[in-house]
Amino acid sequence: MSLLIKNGRIITATDAYVADILVEGETIRAIGKDLSLHADETIDATGLLVFPGGIDPHVHLDMPFMGTFSSDTHETGTRAALHGGTTTVIDFVLQKQGHSLKDALADWNSRARGTAVGDYSFHMAVTDFNENTRAEIKHMIENEGITSFKTFMAYKGALMIDDRQMVALMQEVKKQGGMVTVHATNGDVIDYLVAKHRAEGKLAPLYHYLSQPEMTEAEASGRFADMADYTGCPAYIVHLTCEGALNAVRNATRRNQKLFVETCIQYLILDASLYEDDFEGAKWVMSPPLREKKDQTTLWAGINQGLVQVVATDHCPFMWEQKLMGKDDFSKIPNGHPAIENRLELLYSEGVHTGKITLNKYVEVACTNPAKIFGLFPKKGTIAVGSDADLVLFDPTEKHTISAKTHHMNVDYSAYEGWEITGKVKTVLLRGKVVIDNGNCLVEKGYGKFIKRNKVSGTI
Ligand code: URP
Ligand code: ZN
Ligand code: ZN
Repeated sequence: MSLLIKNGRIITATDAYVADILVEGETIRAIGKDLSLHADETIDATGLLVFPGGIDPHVHLDMPFMGTFSSDTHETGTRAALHGGTTTVIDFVLQKQGHSLKDALADWNSRARGTAVGDYSFHMAVTDFNENTRAEIKHMIENEGITSFKTFMAYKGALMIDDRQMVALMQEVKKQGGMVTVHATNGDVIDYLVAKHRAEGKLAPLYHYLSQPEMTEAEASGRFADMADYTGCPAYIVHLTCEGALNAVRNATRRNQKLFVETCIQYLILDASLYEDDFEGAKWVMSPPLREKKDQTTLWAGINQGLVQVVATDHCPFMWEQKLMGKDDFSKIPNGHPAIENRLELLYSEGVHTGKITLNKYVEVACTNPAKIFGLFPKKGTIAVGSDADLVLFDPTEKHTISAKTHHMNVDYSAYEGWEITGKVKTVLLRGKVVIDNGNCLVEKGYGKFIKRNKVSGTI
């Protein structure tokens, strides 16, 4: 099958121009002005922007967490991602403490294989680093195509590792050609503040926020950066939210170290005032919590300064019923919020449409940098001859309203209910096939492929 996309305005991380794209099979074969090549099908993209398929490198699908499972499966989550223009996601496999990485991977494969609708890859979360785990790192990188290793400096007693394990893991991962990523908040201080608030009978969602002050993130981000610098390991901080943490990174970059930063769409556009409304605030209970308006300003600036390279989601949805597990105690509210479907449209509307970032920066942080950082480029993340034909045809003028009534995520509320936004995903191609056309998904579960990733260099 061949397909010609005519007259779209092609946007990459560096260019913007009107041209045609010829797709053959799963791949982009030619790009040029007024291509007069035969194709089995033609799509007229006049007036539309053509982006590379979005890459969301931070999602939690069907993940056992805080006594329940995140409510999107690999099927529903990747389908919703496609509706929102995200063609590839990187999901997290969680090692169980006392068990192997291989067992964890087998567990995730049993849920994801044959069910995903969009393409996906895995990070491996190392929650117990010991001599057995050390021996598995090379296998993960060389045989499984899993080249990034997630660590938690918080969630004490469940996922957190200590600094001794962190440094040892970094040394091994560096040796084998991978990257260490981190949830950087100080787990001990948070644990203390959670216990203190509970003992004082302060049990509303607001106290989730007050148990994770900016200092906990700034301190851990700086500590992580120092350990990464010492070991020389390529490193990546997930879901960075605030000024203090970004300043720690700013200092680290003076050493020219290989340290990347991701923020998430919610930290750019939502703030902690959402926790003031009694239990309703549970919809936004996530870790780290939403911050202040001044942090949003810092993060937008960080994107434009090149200090923040990626905008992801940390998509980790829970039904309202699941959030109610914490109705009498904020520490029992499953942490996370749904956004996999909304990221690209929100970032366009709130970032490009308002003039905060350019179209090229948009593609850079939502598509190209995640692909480069995590070893998917140039197969994914750009529009180029030889790349996978993962493409989004986007109407930059269409206005619409976000609602749980119309979204495709398996969650019964929207964190952005009633938001009126500008810019809409119209058509999505994944590996040469039209998968979304005007709100309809045209492929079944199982269309999504597991993508093995390359070793990472720590440079982009
Ligand atoms: O609240 C969050 N972020 N839930 C998912 C797990 C994590 O920390 O990323
Ligand atoms: Zn996290
Ligand atoms: Zn996460």
